[in-house]
Amino acid sequence: KRILVTALAASTALAAPALADDAALREQAKEMFEAIPLQAPMLEDNVISRDRVDLGKALFFDPRMSRSGLFSCQSCHNVGIGGVDGLETSIGHGWQKGPRNAPTMLNAVFNVAQFWDGRAPDLEAQAKGPVQAGVEMNNTPENLVATLKSMPAYVASFQTSFPGEDDPVTFDNFAKAIEAFEATLITPNSPFDKFLMGQDAALSDQQKRGLALFMDEGCAACHQGINVGGQDYYPFGVVEKPGADVLPEGDHGRFAVTETADDQYVFRAGPLRNIALTAPYFHSGTVWELRDAVAIMATSQLGSELNDAQIDDITAFLEALTGEQPQVVHPILPARTKDTPKPYT
Ligand code: HEM
Ligand code: HEM
Repeated sequence: KRILVTALAASTALAAPALADDAALREQAKEMFEAIPLQAPMLEDNVISRDRVDLGKALFFDPRMSRSGLFSCQSCHNVGIGGVDGLETSIGHGWQKGPRNAPTMLNAVFNVAQFWDGRAPDLEAQAKGPVQAGVEMNNTPENLVATLKSMPAYVASFQTSFPGEDDPVTFDNFAKAIEAFEATLITPNSPFDKFLMGQDAALSDQQKRGLALFMDEGCAACHQGINVGGQDYYPFGVVEKPGADVLPEGDHGRFAVTETADDQYVFRAGPLRNIALTAPYFHSGTVWELRDAVAIMATSQLGSELNDAQIDDITAFLEALTGEQPQVVHPILPARTKDTPKPYT
């Protein structure tokens, strides 16, 4: 009986009318942000079928897609730790240190384009990059296709995933299958999404203050939309350039993509979904605490002197952007055969 009474009390509390300011805060937030959907979005020129997702998952986890047999996508985008490697900049083939921090692939399907500088238009184009990058997987499309064709279980899987194609085991289809799998790696139901959908109590008072500051102080001018960022490009250091430790001079950002002078040190606004899980921060990966990243943004992008309490509030709001992490079961991968190219180190 006591349980019943408590449950009743709790449900009356939930049913209480929204505080006027919660409702206003929600309306303002809905103008700028969108909740992560429960299901994978539709893709252009690709089909998210069960077969294709399963194949993409196997490819994502298969280290034999790298020349050394050591690196898979999972090495640098670990689904158990927010889709990152937790390193300042990634380590790839031959223990080489790459130039940039690995961003998460969780919710990446919603970004306007891929990479810190947006140089790949979508996840399909993106997947072809790391395989061939010397500092990442150091493979060639030919050797990758030969590896796949050497294992009958992979050939069968490409046949069912790309029905009706004469020669389905191709580098293009490799990328398509990975894109289909990655499109399923979305993280709905964060406290922020629950708040957007009408649950006042999903955010703490501090997080609500942080959300209000995030919108009113101007963070949301650059970090907006479904991923709270990842939707457009801006100079890093609009108001004040951060030091060379945070913004190394050699990385010119989008300038390398467009060769337009205006794009010097321009980067994609970081998508802030699950940001509390993906330290270290910025493309240089040199800032380890989220609070410090917020303080740097306030100075470099807004020229504003937020006080300590305001920085804490915004940081608390960003922690509310952590959604339900996808439960991914590690796939059993096809066994090698005598025709499988040997790893090369
Ligand atoms: C960027 C997926 C392999 C390190 C990305 C992005 C995606 C992705 C989707 C862009 C995310 C965004 O812009 O928000 C994959 C897939 C892989 C793979 C599908 C396997 C085929 C690797 C490996 C490493 C790595 C093995 C580490 C050795 C990085 C880095 C970036 C990145 C450093 C940022 C590069 C830049 O912005 O210039 N990856 N990745 N990735 N990935 Fe991977
Ligand atoms: C990156 C938060 C304002 C543009 C980031 C990151 C955080 C953040 C935490 C790191 C993302 C990551 O490492 O994955 C904030 C907050 C702001 C704010 C709390 C308000 C105080 C702005 C404004 C702009 C902007 C106003 C545009 C003028 C960017 C860009 C990046 C970024 C371009 C990527 C930087 C890089 O290349 O490393 N932001 N931001 N931000 N933000 Fe902001």
